[in-house]
Amino acid sequence: MFSSLISPAIFLLINLLLFSTSPCLSSPTIPMNSYKYSNWEKFETFLDARRGSNVTQMSELKKYFHRFGYLIKPQENQNFSDVFDAKFEHAVIRYQARLGLPITGTLNNQTLVQIMSPRCGVRDRHHHHNPKPKSRFHATRKFAYFQDQPRWNRGVPMTLTYSFSPVDMITSLSMTNIRDAFKRAFGHWESVIPVTFIESDDYGFADIKIGFYNGDHGDGEAFDGVLGVLAHAFSPESGRFHLDAAETWAVDFESEKSKVAIDLESVATHEIGHLLGLAHSSVKESVMYPSLKPREKKVDLKLDDVRGIQALYGTNPNFTVGGFLESEIYSNDAGAFHLRTLILFSTFFALMIGVIL
Ligand SMILES: *[C@@H]1O[C@H](CO)[C@@H](O)[C@H](O)[C@H]1NC(C)=O
Ligand SMILES: *[C@@H]1O[C@H](CO)[C@@H](O)[C@H](O)[C@H]1NC(C)=O
Ligand SMILES: *[C@@H]1O[C@H](CO)[C@@H](O)[C@H](O)[C@H]1NC(C)=O
Ligand SMILES: *[C@@H]1O[C@H](CO)[C@@H](O)[C@H](O)[C@H]1NC(C)=O
Ligand SMILES: [Zn+2]
Ligand SMILES: [Zn+2]
Repeated sequence: MFSSLISPAIFLLINLLLFSTSPCLSSPTIPMNSYKYSNWEKFETFLDARRGSNVTQMSELKKYFHRFGYLIKPQENQNFSDVFDAKFEHAVIRYQARLGLPITGTLNNQTLVQIMSPRCGVRDRHHHHNPKPKSRFHATRKFAYFQDQPRWNRGVPMTLTYSFSPVDMITSLSMTNIRDAFKRAFGHWESVIPVTFIESDDYGFADIKIGFYNGDHGDGEAFDGVLGVLAHAFSPESGRFHLDAAETWAVDFESEKSKVAIDLESVATHEIGHLLGLAHSSVKESVMYPSLKPREKKVDLKLDDVRGIQALYGTNPNFTVGGFLESEIYSNDAGAFHLRTLILFSTFFALMIGVIL
């Protein structure tokens, strides 16, 4: 599974290293030929670093942990050091926990591969887990909200409008293809909560404003070229929805053969979750998990996504949990065990009753 991740991962790493260390090299477009498996060696120096390790450029890796909310900045006028100290160990542990990785506190291979994966630009932390819900289906809940649990406050049933920027769009895909991908993405959420999304031509007045941007685009969250950060969106009721124009956006991998192609509908579905109030989930299969591989399609909401969003907005009367049970059962989570037990027991009792009668 990791082999497909390695190359893009390396690409991100190179980005990370080059950008922050030598301004002369920080052109926004890294030549495609540096995107090669052989570059893994650059990252290999961090492999299995642990508390006490002192590795050149570890400070760059610390910036990544800072960027996504795991490590606070050193005091004013101080820089991150190259030493793997206790604070960094805590950051690595928190990262592994949030990303659903085995918790080792070391920079093992799996952790480095995850760090190098393309991902959403929204921070993983600065939000809190909500109290444990009561329903028996909640056993696998890993969803999270933003601080203070913001949501859109409109009448129920709710209608939100979305609109594409009249200027900040991409030309590599037709407007029809883009429209359709977003319509499907909004549709995934629409089918589980009592909220309707309508496309509007009035960009200025739309609730959700969609645009593609290169590099620094004025909100302090600059995009970083091919792979790395793919997109970001703001929590309610901002509605700002930004995608990195430098990605090879795809609506169909049959016609888009690029190794670094990113599925537009998958990223759109994820970002809409943020726009509605969901933060990142640690369930790898969920739409709200922070990373997405090139050429990966992940558009179907998982039970974790559904429960998170329904706790904020309520349930679409047309929604049935039936279709989600299968994914729940096959999840390798402890919660799945409970559900499986439940089903086994119900089957058992049904059989018993059959025998008695
Ligand atoms: C790290 O994982 C990748 C993908 O599984 C593998 O190709 C590579 O050999 C691993 N590297 C080390 C040093 O274990
Ligand atoms: C880490 O290594 C660098 C260069 O190898 C050295 O200059 C520095 O003093 C080391 N720091 C610590 C805390 O050992
Ligand atoms: C921190 O890094 C900057 C830029 O690399 C450098 O100019 C500055 O002197 C460093 N500060 C300390 C306290 O090391
Ligand atoms: C539920 O389905 C019916 C029939 O397809 C549809 O008319 C109605 O708008 C749906 N309700 C919601 C809240 O989506
Ligand atoms: Zn995200
Ligand atoms: Zn932005």
